[in-house]
Amino acid sequence: MHKKLTVYSSAKLNLYLNVGEKQIDGYHALETVFQSIDLYDKLEFILSAEPDKEKQEIKIIIEESEQSHLLQDPKSNLIYRAAKLFFRTLKDDSFHLTVKLTKRIPIAAGLAGGSGNAAATLYALNYLLNEPFKQEVLLSLARELGSDVPFSLLGGCMLGTGRGDQLTRITETSDLIFILILPPSDITLATKEVYETFDKLSLVSNLPNKVSIEKFVQLLITQGQDASKQMFNSLEESAVTLNYWVDKAKTAIDSKGYYSLVSGSGPTVFTIAPNEYQAISLLQKLQEEGFNAQCHRSISESLMVVSH
Ligand code: C5P
Repeated sequence: MHKKLTVYSSAKLNLYLNVGEKQIDGYHALETVFQSIDLYDKLEFILSAEPDKEKQEIKIIIEESEQSHLLQDPKSNLIYRAAKLFFRTLKDDSFHLTVKLTKRIPIAAGLAGGSGNAAATLYALNYLLNEPFKQEVLLSLARELGSDVPFSLLGGCMLGTGRGDQLTRITETSDLIFILILPPSDITLATKEVYETFDKLSLVSNLPNKVSIEKFVQLLITQGQDASKQMFNSLEESAVTLNYWVDKAKTAIDSKGYYSLVSGSGPTVFTIAPNEYQAISLLQKLQEEGFNAQCHRSISESLMVVSH
């Protein structure tokens, strides 16, 4: 057997993220609105089973980039961990897997790039092996890999509760145009550290000036991009505290009359543009100021699959 599949895994934004108290399992209770966007990593999977070579082999070839050194340790690489978990659950350690990874989503940037890669790996292995697992099983494997991995399997616009892994699809949302400011390659934030800072600064709030998540979802459905005024992220203050760049990027957007928000645990900052014309105008201004600004659209699925 020798099979190939190419999967493009997308980035996500959190349009709303309300973080509650830390639970006994060490994770915080969340209420969030996830949205997939058309910013992708490319993963090329080559799977083989050779009867004479019994031992499992998982090889990840990472295209050279300014951040590729951050992915070299197999134990912390989510593609490696996802493949290991999949084969262990299948109770078969005879496969040889090679994954060629081309990263376009910045690492540790609040965009769930790594979670998307893990989701793509679960999906690809299940596809290439003729679907030994139903979606429920894939979702439970995704949960073991990280809080954002279940969403990264499903994609689109979803409400997340629990750790962010209890998901309900939000339908009837309109297409949205986002302007993102991506951080320079040396500015990363570790999710764990952002949550620890959140705890240290005692930032759990009861949303004094913010709309509830139910209201936000209703606004998103009825008013589309106008809901951007009510976007919210409990982790924003921690991200700003940990890196001054976040505040610089937010100010650049806010000073042009838009509502900026940090995505997830940051440092990526984004806004929603009302139309293409204003999106391009804002994009140009931010780029002229030296920011790595990009325009991306909402998409309704997280994984794009090309079979060979
Ligand atoms: O689930 P994931 O591995 O992405 O989480 C990374 C870290 O972020 C966790 O180890 C935890 O410290 C923190 N976290 C949290 N509450 C959540 C999600 C993540 O405290 N709901």
